[in-house]
Amino acid sequence: MLVDAFKVESPNVQYGADSITSTYRYESTEVERTPEGQWVVAPRATEYTFKTDTRVPKLGVMLVGWGGNNGTTVTGGILANKHGITWMTKDGLKKPNYFGSLTHAATVRVGNYKGEEVHVPFSSLLPMVHPNDFVLGGWDISGMNLADAMERAQVMDFELQKQLVPLMRDMVPLPGIYDPSFIAANQAERADNCIKGSKKEQMETVRQHIRDFKAAQGVDRVIVLWTANTERYSEVVEGLNDTSDNLMKSIEAGESEVSPSTLYAAACVLEGVPFINGSPQNTFVPGLIDLAVEHNVLIGGDDFKSGQTKMKSVLVDFLVGAGIKPTSIVSYNHLGNNDGMNLSAPQTFRSKEISKSNVVDDMVSSNSLLYAPGEHPDHVVVIKYVPYVADSKRAMDEYTSEIFLGGRNTIVMHNTCEDSLLAAPIIMDLVILAELTTRIQLQRDGEPDLHGFHPVAVLLSYLTKAPLVPAGVPVVNALAKQRAMLENVFRACVGLPPENNMRLESIGVL
Ligand SMILES: NC(=O)c1ccc[n+]([C@@H]2O[C@H](COP(=O)([O-])OP(=O)(O)OC[C@H]3O[C@@H](n4cnc5c(N)ncnc54)[C@H](O)[C@@H]3O)[C@@H](O)[C@H]2O)c1
Repeated sequence: MLVDAFKVESPNVQYGADSITSTYRYESTEVERTPEGQWVVAPRATEYTFKTDTRVPKLGVMLVGWGGNNGTTVTGGILANKHGITWMTKDGLKKPNYFGSLTHAATVRVGNYKGEEVHVPFSSLLPMVHPNDFVLGGWDISGMNLADAMERAQVMDFELQKQLVPLMRDMVPLPGIYDPSFIAANQAERADNCIKGSKKEQMETVRQHIRDFKAAQGVDRVIVLWTANTERYSEVVEGLNDTSDNLMKSIEAGESEVSPSTLYAAACVLEGVPFINGSPQNTFVPGLIDLAVEHNVLIGGDDFKSGQTKMKSVLVDFLVGAGIKPTSIVSYNHLGNNDGMNLSAPQTFRSKEISKSNVVDDMVSSNSLLYAPGEHPDHVVVIKYVPYVADSKRAMDEYTSEIFLGGRNTIVMHNTCEDSLLAAPIIMDLVILAELTTRIQLQRDGEPDLHGFHPVAVLLSYLTKAPLVPAGVPVVNALAKQRAMLENVFRACVGLPPENNMRLESIGVL
């Protein structure tokens, strides 16, 4: 049963005019080892106070790479929803929706009513921005207007495109920061809309763009998200980008190893604007992370988790959790969009390979009954550019596992991804959740004041392939755990217990 809205009745939650405050007993465990080598695990309960500002801002969303396949799909998809555009296809009349969005097409279980499970929309847990209300803008090194760029992308149905053209042809991206040494040479042809000047001047121009956009659109807040081409990795070098001071000096000096994405991210941090990286490169060099922490500005990434990796983070979790030992994981992709063309250069492919490769590490290391120390399944990722398939990426995976008594189990999967139609709702979720988490403050028992979450936004992990976490925090890749973290934190904010699936109210009654 789906219920639209609900109210929590609990002495631990108060609804104010513009906030919800809840106190929450967080139960966790603490693990110690005695000098004699005995492991001791003790339950701990800590009281937390959560205070959520319930005022939903008018939100500006600036996309880096606005004229790309993802950028135009996000824009066209939102406009189609907002204006209720319908379109005919050979399968019949289609209506717009937000399928694929956790916030706007998924539900959360809140309990059981007379033997029936009660669910609510995820978006009813806490007040959050609706994608229809995004005020969109952004940059692209290609100056094509969004209507022509949508046609170039070949993602949306033709009849839908036709109706979107009048709504998108006046949308023109701001010039972007172009550095040919960071993306594939095959991108040079479209780079006709570039910010001139030194690295410092380019960063300052982006800062000015953000301020101008805010003023012109009258938005309360802005979030910037990178959905531009995958860059090669920047070298991380002592003295160059290892601290915030060194990064700032390197930008000032015009050091060639500072990437465009790091320049955009630095501009955002200095403007107090959250920045999310949807591609795999190391935009967040240590100096940039330092800068974000110093300015207490949210950064999140890396790389949208849309297709093959999402499956992997479910399947390997299931196998290892079931006591089955994956020994070889081989992933082939071919795609024919501009992203694929850019990834056909070895240095940009390498960034993707890295972000796709680490996704099973935590699951493998969680089960040393299966794996000896240091043992790892063979894991290979191949990406090929095949123009004919355009945005309809094919992902083929073979998972071979050892099972009972030396047996072998092989799972083969073929996934036709429709890349940008999978990525667009993830982009919206990243923006919505990033904005929401900046309105939540918390205070652990004994702390003097309420404060925000750590600026490195671990809560966004569900949506990213290689989740960025603060130093010393373990990375969790298993999709179900990532979703549970997000859902349970939001439940705590409104005074609901975490969904622990014990269901004692059902199984504990005779
Ligand atoms: N399912 C998915 O689509 C998916 C999943 C994970 C990650 N990604 C990543 O998202 C990114 C975008 O994917 P896409 O399919 O939209 O690619 P795309 O090539 O269609 O779009 C990228 C756009 O960025 C622009 N651009 C490049 N460098 C720029 C810069 N420095 N400043 C401003 N604009 C710049 C390009 O002109 C282009 O219009 C890629 O890096 C891709 O790897 C996509």
